[in-house]
Amino acid sequence: MGGDDSVAGVTSPDIETIGVLTSGGDCPGLNAVIRGVVRKAEREFGWRPLGFHEGYMGLIEESFEELTIEGCRGILPRGGTVIGTSRYTPFMFDDGIERVRATLERHHVGGLVVIGGEGSLSCANELSEMGMSIVGVPKTIDNDIGLTERTFGFDTAVQIATDAIDRLHTTAESHNRVMVVEVMGRHVGHIATWAGMAGGATMTLTPEEPFDIDEVCASLTRRHNRGKYASIVVVAEGALPKAGTLEVPEPEIDQFGHKRLGGIVNLVAAEIESRTGYETRVTVLGHVQRGGTPTSFDRALSSWFGIEAVSAIAERDFGSMVAFQGGTMVRVPLVDAIAELKYTSPELRAAARAFFA
Ligand code: F6P
Repeated sequence: MGGDDSVAGVTSPDIETIGVLTSGGDCPGLNAVIRGVVRKAEREFGWRPLGFHEGYMGLIEESFEELTIEGCRGILPRGGTVIGTSRYTPFMFDDGIERVRATLERHHVGGLVVIGGEGSLSCANELSEMGMSIVGVPKTIDNDIGLTERTFGFDTAVQIATDAIDRLHTTAESHNRVMVVEVMGRHVGHIATWAGMAGGATMTLTPEEPFDIDEVCASLTRRHNRGKYASIVVVAEGALPKAGTLEVPEPEIDQFGHKRLGGIVNLVAAEIESRTGYETRVTVLGHVQRGGTPTSFDRALSSWFGIEAVSAIAERDFGSMVAFQGGTMVRVPLVDAIAELKYTSPELRAAARAFFA
């Protein structure tokens, strides 16, 4: 990886300034990555880290601030991102690429850490292929980026969803209700499956395994006939019925061309109530899953990602993404990491299915 003739492991003597930006939806742990980057850049190499504001917009508009160890005090447990984020990429502007290049050159940015999810890292990969010196850090609560066992933010989202499911159990049991809870995750079911198992859900509907509403209702009926009068159904926002079984309205497309997911839960709940006669309620967890302080795992993982990203710059390992594999840090080519979404494994899904009603 890297594509130049410097020796891996040897610090590049010519770097004085590096950049960092956070792009895409916010995610618990962003500040911990920033802090890790700043800590290692300043303390170990004496570099000057610049934080570009609001994702790629900071490069396009030349908007940034100098980050220091002192200035990063207290940000480790804070949710959100102290340098802001947005979903804009330079490819959305006629002169976006030239402006990004000009900003990087004008401020002598020797390496840029892009902290982002699938869309932001795809953009990072393109910029890297155009010759810019970029290292990626995999961010998303969805955990859908390839070649890393974990993205940061995922553990926190699962914990928040699990806490919510725990709370739904007692109210469901008090009223003999079916509670249908929608979690985020876009086109993959990592959050739904892990939180469903951790929270003791009755069943989990994910995009990976299209559901049959007849089977869902039959399964709930069997459970309730056995004397269990309350159920929790976790629905991933990207879950879909088997073709031809239930009509689902087409999702809206947002200004960035992404499907705005969410809402399938209402359809599922309405069908359950009308077909089984069980009183059913809906909970949509939404952005609560992305807000607030990261778990201890996410704080540590994010910090480690930040440290490793700076090592990658020092070794001029550009075009790479830091990744968590087998309990340790590795680097993988960005182009491979973004090649395809990481879905839940069949083994995980089989384990979850063992707990279905
Ligand atoms: O990718 C993270 C995520 O939280 C998804 O789980 C969700 O579908 C999407 O972002 C929501 O995006 P927005 O913040 O634009 O509503």
